[in-house]
Amino acid sequence: MQASNLIPVLDPNPLPAPYWLLKLLLLVTFMLHIVAMNFMLGGAVLALTAKWSAQSKEHGKRVFFDVAKKLPVLLPATITLGIAPLLFLQVLYGQFFYTSSIVMAWPWFLVLVLLTVAYYGFYYVSFRSGHDSHRVGGVMLVSTLLVVLVGFAFSNNITLSQTPVRWAAKYFARPSGWNLNLTEPTLIPRFLHFMVAAIAVGGLMLVFMALANWKRDNEYARQLLQFGGKAFMYATMAQFVVGPVFLFTLPRDLRMMYMGDNPLATALLLVGIAGGIAALVVMSGALRSGNIRAAAFTVPAIIAVVIASMTVMRDLLRDAYLQPYFHPGQFTVKTQWAVLPLFLALFVAGVVLWLVMMRRYGLLGGREKVSEPAAKAVVSD
Ligand code: HEM
Repeated sequence: MQASNLIPVLDPNPLPAPYWLLKLLLLVTFMLHIVAMNFMLGGAVLALTAKWSAQSKEHGKRVFFDVAKKLPVLLPATITLGIAPLLFLQVLYGQFFYTSSIVMAWPWFLVLVLLTVAYYGFYYVSFRSGHDSHRVGGVMLVSTLLVVLVGFAFSNNITLSQTPVRWAAKYFARPSGWNLNLTEPTLIPRFLHFMVAAIAVGGLMLVFMALANWKRDNEYARQLLQFGGKAFMYATMAQFVVGPVFLFTLPRDLRMMYMGDNPLATALLLVGIAGGIAALVVMSGALRSGNIRAAAFTVPAIIAVVIASMTVMRDLLRDAYLQPYFHPGQFTVKTQWAVLPLFLALFVAGVVLWLVMMRRYGLLGGREKVSEPAAKAVVSD
């Protein structure tokens, strides 16, 4: 069966805003989603690492609970900031994304269950901040693994949505919807690229926490800086292995896009590589000299550029995969001028509110209000 016969017809409703604007909003909101996800997932992984491997047990426990307290906020932040790109994705790529969601219906439905259980787990751990038991660590581990599975479901769905040629075989093999996209060669490297990035950006979150504690409790802040900064560096170094593997699993014509065929894609890849190297150099200097400003301002600024480049690269890749089927020129556009300015104003206000909340929460270098009491409350069972 021809793949193009399986793609649902384009929604005849016109787009409510210009295509480029919806695309821009998709990219911006996806970046916000991914950063929140990285803080949450990377933070959880590093909290567990601190608990189980820290040289000083007290220090490890304190990091664990300081991060654990943030997770019941960071998980819904990830979800809420995921709804926005979901809306734009459905408007622009609904023909592909809905179909792949149906082909892998059960794992896709399970995302809700996994998220709910993970959420309970994170709440449980955050409420047990006086108890350093194996159970607390175990619950945290299970919740973290569930969140990893959610990310895996997303990578399956996104890769499947980009390859309509696979739909028929999968659907007819298991019409019940018990499908993933495991035969896709890029799946695992792509997924690992996201997971390793989460640990790097999670490390930056610890650096922000170090900044928030710098004046009040300098010894603890320096430990956080070293731990978070090193995690950032190891994970970023690992990307220099995972990234090329991802690139080389891409079909040749798509890979060549990043190697000269498409100047924009090639330039963005070079920006990403140069940014990764620059961030490593700055972070290593900052760790050696204890320079919190370089670690908490310069490195995140460089990484923001890297994330933006990668986000656009990812989008170019999707459009290249869908090039035989997806033609933005087919959309009719009827801009809803009555509501669009209001929507944009509220959108910008919403993003500013998020930044204020994150600063209040000690995640962007603001003063963290809740660190000390919880730290004192940590006791051994
Ligand atoms: C909390 C756990 C979650 C994790 C770990 C996670 C992780 C990820 C990852 C790794 C991707 C990229 C997949 C790829 O391109 O291969 C992704 C994409 C996406 N996520 Fe999430 N996600 C989570 C929850 C959510 C939720 C609850 C929503 C929606 C309500 C959401 C909305 C999206 C959307 C719309 C995309 C694709 C955007 C696009 O293709 O442009 N995510 N997510």
